[in-house]
Amino acid sequence: MARKRTKIVEGGRAPALHAGAVNVPVYRASTFLFPDLETMHDGSAAYTYARRGTPTTRGLEQAICDLEGGARTVLTPSGLAACTLAILTVCGAGDHILVTDSVYDPTRVFCEKLGKRYGIVTEFFEPRIGAGIASLFRPNTRAVYLESPGSLTLEVQDVPAIAAAAHRHGIAVAMDNTWGTPLHFDALGHGVDLSLHSATKYIGGHSDILMGVVTANEAWRKALVETHGILGLCAAADEAYLAQRGLRTLAVRLRQHQESATEIATWLTSRPEVARVIYPPLHNDAGHELWRRDFTGACGLFSVVLNPVNEDAISAMMNGMQHFGLGVSWGGFESLIIVAHFRRNFPPALEGPLVRLHIGLEDVDDLKADLAAGFERLNRVNREK
Ligand SMILES: Cc1ncc(COP(=O)(O)O)c(C=O)c1O
Repeated sequence: MARKRTKIVEGGRAPALHAGAVNVPVYRASTFLFPDLETMHDGSAAYTYARRGTPTTRGLEQAICDLEGGARTVLTPSGLAACTLAILTVCGAGDHILVTDSVYDPTRVFCEKLGKRYGIVTEFFEPRIGAGIASLFRPNTRAVYLESPGSLTLEVQDVPAIAAAAHRHGIAVAMDNTWGTPLHFDALGHGVDLSLHSATKYIGGHSDILMGVVTANEAWRKALVETHGILGLCAAADEAYLAQRGLRTLAVRLRQHQESATEIATWLTSRPEVARVIYPPLHNDAGHELWRRDFTGACGLFSVVLNPVNEDAISAMMNGMQHFGLGVSWGGFESLIIVAHFRRNFPPALEGPLVRLHIGLEDVDDLKADLAAGFERLNRVNREK
C-alpha cells in the first residue's frame, strides 16, 4: 500500500476518465442528464445532481478518504460547516456532548446557541483531561468532540486515552484535525470516529478558498452521508478543484512550514519580551511528549505568551508589521499574526497577552527581522506609558 506522501500526489485521480488530464478537471454542473428513464429510476447512475457529487468533488473526497484511512469523506462549504456537520451526524435532541474547552470559538458558539436550541446539551472539559473524561460521562452522553492541539492555546490531547474511554461506553469521538492535517495525525487510527478539517487551511494552502472535509469510519459512514445530504451541504466545483490542486503539494509545504516555525519559535524563546512559546515540537512544551508519541510532524501555527505589556504597546507592535499580515486564518503560504481573545470555562494561566503566529513560506530571516522590529516598537511604547 502506498505511503501518505504518495497518496497525496496520486489520490483521487482518474486520467483515463478525463482525456488523460493529470488532476480531475472542474466539472461545473448542477444536473447530470440520464441516458434513459430506466437509468434515471434504477439508481445506477454515478452522477445525478451536483449537490450529491461531481467527478471533481468525488475525486477530492476519495483522495482525502484514502489519506485518512476512512470509509467515506464528504465536502462542506467551510471548515465550520464540517465541525457542525460532525456534531449533527452524531447528536440529536436530549443528547449530551463533551467538547474540549480549547475548541475553535465558532464551534463553541454553535453548541451554545444552535445546539442548545435543538436540545443538545454541551459540557466543556479541560483539554488535558485524558482518560479522566470517563468521570464526565452521563447516561445520555453521545459524543466527545476534540481539537488537538487547540488552535489558539495548542494543548495536545491524549486522543487514544479519550477515545478508548468513550468507546467503552458506546460514545462517538469527533475531532477537528486541522492542525495535524491528514498527513501528520492519523485521527481514525488513534480511535477517532469522525475526523474533520478546515480545508481552507493547509489542504487548500493558498488562501483562496473556503472548504471543509469530514471523514467517517465504517460505523459512522451511513449517518454522515445521510446528514450531509439532508442538510444540503456541498462544495463548489472550482473550490474542489483548487483544494485538489493544493493537496498535491501539502507534504512539501508542511515540511517548510514546520522547519521555519521551529526556527522562529526557538528564537522567540530567547526574546526578553516572551514569557513562553507554545509549540508542541519544542522539547519543553507541555504537549511535547504526546505530540512526539502520536504525531508525525507539525505545521506552522503556534502561539507566544508575552510578558505583561500595555495595550498601546501591543498595538504599536501589530500595526507596523511588514511581512506578517493581520489576519484570522492560517495554513496558507503567507505569515499571519493575531492577538488572541478567547472565552474559556477553564482559562489557562497566561503571563500576558497571547499572540498567535502562522509562519508562512517567506524567508525566515525576514520574518525574524519583522518580529524584532515589532518588539522594538512594543518596548518603546511600553516604556513611554
Ligand atoms: C481549528 C479550526 N477549525 C475550523 C475552522 C473553520 O474553518 P473555516 O474558516 O474554513 O470555516 C477554523 C478556522 O479558522 C479553525 O481554525
